[in-house]
Amino acid sequence: MQSFEFYCPTEIVFGRGAESKTAAAVQKHGGTRVLIVYGGGSVVRSGLLARLENGLDAAGIAFAVFGGVQPNPRMAHAREGVKAAAKFGADMILAVGGGSVIDTAKAVAHGAANLNIDIGEFWSGRQTVQRSLPVGVVLTIAAAGSETSNSAVLTNEETGKKSGINTDFNRPAFAIMDPELTFTLPKQQIACGIADIMMHTMDRYFTHEEGNEFTDRVAEALLRDVIDHAKRALANRKDYEAMSELMWCGSVSHNGFTGLGRSMDFGVHKLGHELSGKFDVTHGASLTVMWGAWARYVYEDAPERFARFARNVWDVSVGTCEERARGGIRETETFWKELGLPVNFTELGIGVQDEATLKFLADMCTDYGKKTVGCFYPISRAVALDIYRLANH
Ligand code: NZQ
Ligand code: ZN
Repeated sequence: MQSFEFYCPTEIVFGRGAESKTAAAVQKHGGTRVLIVYGGGSVVRSGLLARLENGLDAAGIAFAVFGGVQPNPRMAHAREGVKAAAKFGADMILAVGGGSVIDTAKAVAHGAANLNIDIGEFWSGRQTVQRSLPVGVVLTIAAAGSETSNSAVLTNEETGKKSGINTDFNRPAFAIMDPELTFTLPKQQIACGIADIMMHTMDRYFTHEEGNEFTDRVAEALLRDVIDHAKRALANRKDYEAMSELMWCGSVSHNGFTGLGRSMDFGVHKLGHELSGKFDVTHGASLTVMWGAWARYVYEDAPERFARFARNVWDVSVGTCEERARGGIRETETFWKELGLPVNFTELGIGVQDEATLKFLADMCTDYGKKTVGCFYPISRAVALDIYRLANH
C-alpha cells in the first residue's frame, strides 16, 4: 500500500431515531448557544426543525435560527449568517439539511470565529482558516458527504464562480444520520444525490497510483452497493434499507476513505462546478453531464483502469481492453439515464451552447489557463474546452 494520512474526527450517530440524540450531541461537543442553519423550508414542512427546537429547549440549550440557504449556496447569504451568529453569540453552528446548508454552516462557523476576516478571503485563498466554531449536522439527504468531509463549496454571486476550500476545520464535530429524515425527498434530489455519491468515489478511483488494492476494493464495493440500492430508493423513498445504505455510502464516499494512498482527481467536479456557477444546475446533474465526456476524452490514457472499473463495478468482461473500458463508460451513462439523470447539455435543460460560452466555462475552470485541474489527466484550458464540446449536444 502507499502511504497515507487519514483524519476523520466526526462523531457519527446513525440509524432510526438518531434525530432524538441531537441535543445530547450538542452538549457533548460543548454547544451552549447554537445557531441553527437550514434551507428553503423542507425541514419546517416536515416538522423536523420544530422537533429539534423542542429538544434543545428541553435540554436548556439556547438557540437562534437562520434559514433561507438555497442549493448552490451563495457567499452573500453565508455572510448574513456570520452576522446572525455574531449577534446571537453562538458557540456552535447546527446545520439541518443537505450539502448546501452544511457548507453554509461551515462558512458561518469560520466567519463567526474570525470576525475581522471576510469569509471571501478564505474562499479566494488569500487567507487560510486557523480557527473555527464547531459545526454539528442533522442530515436530511444522502448526497454531498459534507457531513464528514473537509470541504465547503460556495458560489460567489458577484463572479459566478463556484468553488470549495479544503481544511480540517471543515470537518463537523458530529453528524446525526437518521435515514428516515430522507423520506420526504423529491425523486430528482434522490437521483442527483446518488450520482454525487458515485462521483466522490469515481473522482478518486481513476488514478495512475497503483498498489492500493484495499482502497480499490472498498471503492468498487461502495459503487456496487449504491447501484444495487438506487432503483429501490427511487421506487419507494420510504424504503429504509435502501435509504440507509445510500446515506452511509454518501459519507464514506467523501470522508477520504475511498481515496487512501493516492491523489484525488476531482477534475469532473471542477468542470461541473462551472455549469452550476453559470446555470445554477443541481450539483449531481452537473456531474453526470460531464463524466461521460471526460471519460471518453481520457480513457485511452489508462484503458486498463477503465477496464477494471467496467469489470468490477458493471460486470463487463467481454472484448478487448479498450472495448471493455468503453463498455464501462456506456453502462455508467445508461444507469444514470435510467435514474432520470442527464448526460449532455440538452438533457440538463440548458440547451446547446455557443462556442463563446464554452470558452467562458473553460476559462473559469482553469483560471483563464493559469492552472490545470485534476491529476489523472491534467485538464488545461484547451482540454476543458474539448471536454465541454463533447457534452454540448
Ligand atoms: O432547502 P430545502 O427546502 O431544505 O430543500 C432542499 C434543496 O432544495 C432539498 N432537501 C434536502 N433534504 C430534504 C429536501 N427536501 C425534502 N426532504 C428532505 N429530507 O434538497 C434540495 C437540495 O439540497 P442541497 O443541500 O443543495 O443538496 P445536496 O446535499 O446535494 O448538496 C449540494 C451542495 O453541496 C455541494 C454541492 O456543490 C452543492 O452546492 N457539495 C459539497 C461538498 C462538500 N462540502 O464536501 C462536496 C460535493 O462534491 C458538493 O460539491
Ligand atoms: Zn460532489
